[in-house]
Amino acid sequence: PRTYVVTGSASGIGAATAELLRSRGETVIGIDLRGAEIDADLSTPDGRADAAAQAIDKTGGVIDGVIACAGISAPIGKTMSINYFGVTELLTALLPALRASEAPRAAVVSSMASLQPVDAALVEAALAGDEASAVARGEELAAQGPELGYLNYPSSKRALSRWVRRTSISPDWAGSGIPLNAVAPGTVVTPMTADLLATPEGAAMVDAAVPMPLNHHQPASSIAELLVWLTSPANTHMAGQTIYDDGGADATLRGDDI
Ligand code: NAI
Repeated sequence: PRTYVVTGSASGIGAATAELLRSRGETVIGIDLRGAEIDADLSTPDGRADAAAQAIDKTGGVIDGVIACAGISAPIGKTMSINYFGVTELLTALLPALRASEAPRAAVVSSMASLQPVDAALVEAALAGDEASAVARGEELAAQGPELGYLNYPSSKRALSRWVRRTSISPDWAGSGIPLNAVAPGTVVTPMTADLLATPEGAAMVDAAVPMPLNHHQPASSIAELLVWLTSPANTHMAGQTIYDDGGADATLRGDDI
């Protein structure tokens, strides 16, 4: 069996991914705030370092796949800390253990929200690796109301998809034979979206922003299937992609812009 580290494994997409891997006989070390093999807070540098150290310890320093699902969609500065730094810093810390595998792979969960309007300064601060400035900018936006505060989420996912694109082709990743890619879901039925989808008004708002002509809202298992393939040895040449597995939301919204 292969050994996988899955973040956000206690709920939603991460839980579905851990379950699918285990059903195929793979070993999964989950990371989450609580209820996982490793309980850690990926919103802080210490929490990430602790999670990485424990993952390396529990796997004996050899990790075949890392799948980063943990994330939040709150209109607050912390969203960038979890969705961007909680992914990029953890992946970087786990790189030596991935390189010790014979067929290492990594995948992260972005969002179709990465295509929505973003705050450019916030995206740039994240990509520059400046967490303090990024969080400060995010809080500044949040203080101006929910509409600007919401920009924290798409900005975190835009930065993440761009980081994946840049990083995947570097000597550390492509040069080490490690495919690194992102999945961008549409509206997935998980605890993250449950409250919003529970009312007709909330559901209508979501559907206006995320049109899904193919099969409408998706189960977490649909994303798990793709994440598992991306991190399997069958994936040999995909690098830096953000794959919109979103019921046709990207094709609807972006149309011919390709
Ligand atoms: P969820 O809320 O069901 O699961 C997220 C998990 O991440 C939870 O178990 C939570 O405890 C964990 N987490 C949150 N903050 C953490 C922290 N600081 N440290 C460690 N773990 C932490 O949400 P869901 O829907 O499964 O989301 C997973 C990913 O998919 C997220 O990155 C989200 O942005 C993304 N996504 C979700 C969509 C949806 O419609 N549900 C759509 C597009 C993207």
